[in-house]
Amino acid sequence: MSEDALFPLTLIQPDTHDAGPRVIAPGAVHVPGWLSLEQQRWIVQRFGEWTHGPVPLRAATLPGGHRMSVRTLCLGWHWQPYRYTREATDVNGRPVLEFPEWMVRLGRKAVADAYLPGPEGNEALPELAGNYTPDAALVNFYDRGATMGMHQDKDERSNAPVVSLSIGETCLFRFGNTQTRTKPYTDVELRSGDLFVFGGASRFSYHGIPKVLPGTCPEGCGLSHGRINITMRVTGLS
Ligand code: SIN
Ligand code: MN
Repeated sequence: MSEDALFPLTLIQPDTHDAGPRVIAPGAVHVPGWLSLEQQRWIVQRFGEWTHGPVPLRAATLPGGHRMSVRTLCLGWHWQPYRYTREATDVNGRPVLEFPEWMVRLGRKAVADAYLPGPEGNEALPELAGNYTPDAALVNFYDRGATMGMHQDKDERSNAPVVSLSIGETCLFRFGNTQTRTKPYTDVELRSGDLFVFGGASRFSYHGIPKVLPGTCPEGCGLSHGRINITMRVTGLS
């Protein structure tokens, strides 16, 4: 099936999307069940290809020496704590994979579907939906026991929204505030196929993954265990 057929640009009709979108905080929108199982399987196949390199999946080591439990590969720009480079200088020095065109279109549709319907509390967001052009993606794989501490996505020189896609096991996504990594926060269950977009007043909110629920991959998502999360970003770099 062609990429155009798999990811058409038609927007979700709010009345046919029974589960969402749901506003978690101003600018932070959860859209359950956004990707079909077929789309999830197709993305999992791409993930399999990306893992062949040129840069392998790796667990990044933070400046204090702590090694992350999540393993990551990147598209467009290589992320390392805490900057973006074109070559994976902290892994094998190889150039990062290109950011795929289909993912630009998918990111644009994601932002439009999250913001354009203007769910209650999000009336001011349509202006964020136009011209979204992500140029970097962090593709995380959560194997058994992997988690992610509370952090801000702030290595970008842009305040364009972050688009997050989940495939595989269900996780607990903790979405907090812009001031501290502690309360107040909202715990959201992200399931396979869910979309979460955070921009506007929530763009620099702390967030993390305290838990992934083993054995919760839905039949047909393309993964038998673990969780893939893709976050698309606009780096503001050239
Ligand atoms: C991240 O914050 O980079 C990943 C979030 C997630 O895994 O859902
Ligand atoms: Mn993040």
